[in-house]
Amino acid sequence: MGEWQGRTAVITGGGRGFGKAFAEALCARGAHAVLVDLDGQAGEQAAAELALRQLSAQALQGDVADEARMAEVMELAAARNGGIDLLINNAGLHSDEYGQPTRILGLAKIRRLFDVNVMGTVTCTLAAIPHMQGRAGANVVNIASMAAHLCGSAYGVSKLAVSGLTITFASELGGEGIRVNAISPGMIMTETIKAELPPATMDFVRRGQALKTDGAETDIVAAMLYRSGNGARFVTGETLRVTGGMGAGI
Ligand SMILES: NC(=O)c1ccc[n+]([C@@H]2O[C@H](COP(=O)([O-])OP(=O)(O)OC[C@H]3O[C@@H](n4cnc5c(N)ncnc54)[C@H](O)[C@@H]3O)[C@@H](O)[C@H]2O)c1
Repeated sequence: MGEWQGRTAVITGGGRGFGKAFAEALCARGAHAVLVDLDGQAGEQAAAELALRQLSAQALQGDVADEARMAEVMELAAARNGGIDLLINNAGLHSDEYGQPTRILGLAKIRRLFDVNVMGTVTCTLAAIPHMQGRAGANVVNIASMAAHLCGSAYGVSKLAVSGLTITFASELGGEGIRVNAISPGMIMTETIKAELPPATMDFVRRGQALKTDGAETDIVAAMLYRSGNGARFVTGETLRVTGGMGAGI
């Protein structure tokens, strides 16, 4: 029996991109995946694809910034196996639109950016904690971004907050044995990035990488499996950069 057999993983933004890839990897290892997505159709479709492969998944529509709905979502997710073993705070507003200068982005979009990326992480974590307590190996993985380490945009600052909250929650929950870690992906070729990021921006990022190859979803899945698994049982409060060496520094 693998370490994920019979365990429940809640993945926000599970309908596409990293979230869908995380769900596939965890289900293939025996976990039950709960795909939470604002886009209910994308979540349902991703869960149906997993079910076709005899994997255990369910989709729940919801906005990570909606406190009442996230309380319901965590309750429903916990019902399956008596609790939640892994929460991946992955849903986020990003890509070219949210990397724009603050004056162009404007207050309404900046508020929504922080509401989803920052408060979404807080909301889902607080809603999940009661269902994670007392479960051996229970942990949280937050998806930050390389942009957090550059702070060149409001998006980057929202992800810096995600990295900071990782330390806050790690120290608050460590006494109960719940680990909290983050991953900062560099430019990774998800469908959204391929469709939305202008070629000039892609080339700019590639020039900043030490490795002259593109990042793939499998690179982030591998980091997630390490961070959430027993191999990282003594690791908490850390943000792991998976960027091809972009902006490498101390
Ligand atoms: N792809 C990259 O290169 C990259 C790099 C660094 C960080 N990230 C981060 O990784 C995460 C996932 O990236 P991706 O490329 O897979 O994204 P994506 O845009 O392909 O998918 C994100 C999913 O989240 C869902 N979502 C958005 N807002 C939501 C909300 N309020 N509540 C619930 N669901 C919501 C969307 O419907 C979508 O299905 C994001 O947090 C992003 O900031 C991505």
